[in-house]
Amino acid sequence: AVTRTPFIAGNWKMNLDHLQAIAFVQKLAWALADAKHDFADAEVAVFPPFTDLRSVQTLVAADDLPIAYGAQDVSQHDSGAYTGEVSGAFLAKLDCRYVIIGHSERRTLHGETDAVVNAKVQAAHRHGIVPVLCVGETADDLEQHGASAVPVAQLRAALDGVDASKGLVVAYEPVWAIGSGQAATPEQAQQVCAALRAVLAEVAGDDVAASTRVLYGGSVKAANIASFLREVDVDGALVGGASLDIDEFSSIVRFKK
Ligand code: G3P
Repeated sequence: AVTRTPFIAGNWKMNLDHLQAIAFVQKLAWALADAKHDFADAEVAVFPPFTDLRSVQTLVAADDLPIAYGAQDVSQHDSGAYTGEVSGAFLAKLDCRYVIIGHSERRTLHGETDAVVNAKVQAAHRHGIVPVLCVGETADDLEQHGASAVPVAQLRAALDGVDASKGLVVAYEPVWAIGSGQAATPEQAQQVCAALRAVLAEVAGDDVAASTRVLYGGSVKAANIASFLREVDVDGALVGGASLDIDEFSSIVRFKK
């Protein structure tokens, strides 16, 4: 059987400037070092704002910290007259291993369509960066179509023409659970993550489906992380609000099943 390394990621959204980022990453490194005897062996990642990435890179590289990092978005274009955009080439140059793509806030507040999300996934792959692809249904979708239909459709669209074996993490984030304090139940998360894995098997084959991490996101905190990680198809969490508090996030990354 394939074992997937749990992935615990903090999406900082538009919080923490580069000085705060340095302090946070340093403290997170201490928390991880402190836990070395009972640490659950997860891969830990932070997703700071663009303006923090150079500082985080310098800190992580200088001390060889066991912390991965990535950006919260990437341009679908590689260079040129795109004012305000940041290319995958720039992120690769900063050693970003990952990039979040298709977060519901990008989809709803910035009009990102499935086609744009698909183009961004391809852009990440062109630069050797692993997309953390977010999918999820709204409360209305849930009521009208059930939990899986919209996330499944979003995943199919995002992977159209994509070679998922180039690297992929999928994050199931029900929109109604984001920042609401009302997380999905572990059973709900499991059900949709399993449906997403079935799509991966269908479009990319069984090996890719078995090795791809599928995360849950939406009001994850120290008190509920373990309940999600116990589910067979939930391989980690994408954490928003609780990733900004060093004590809370440290407890999350040291989860015990
Ligand atoms: O990307 C993570 C995020 O959308 C979840 O946010 O604050 O509910 O953990 P939060």
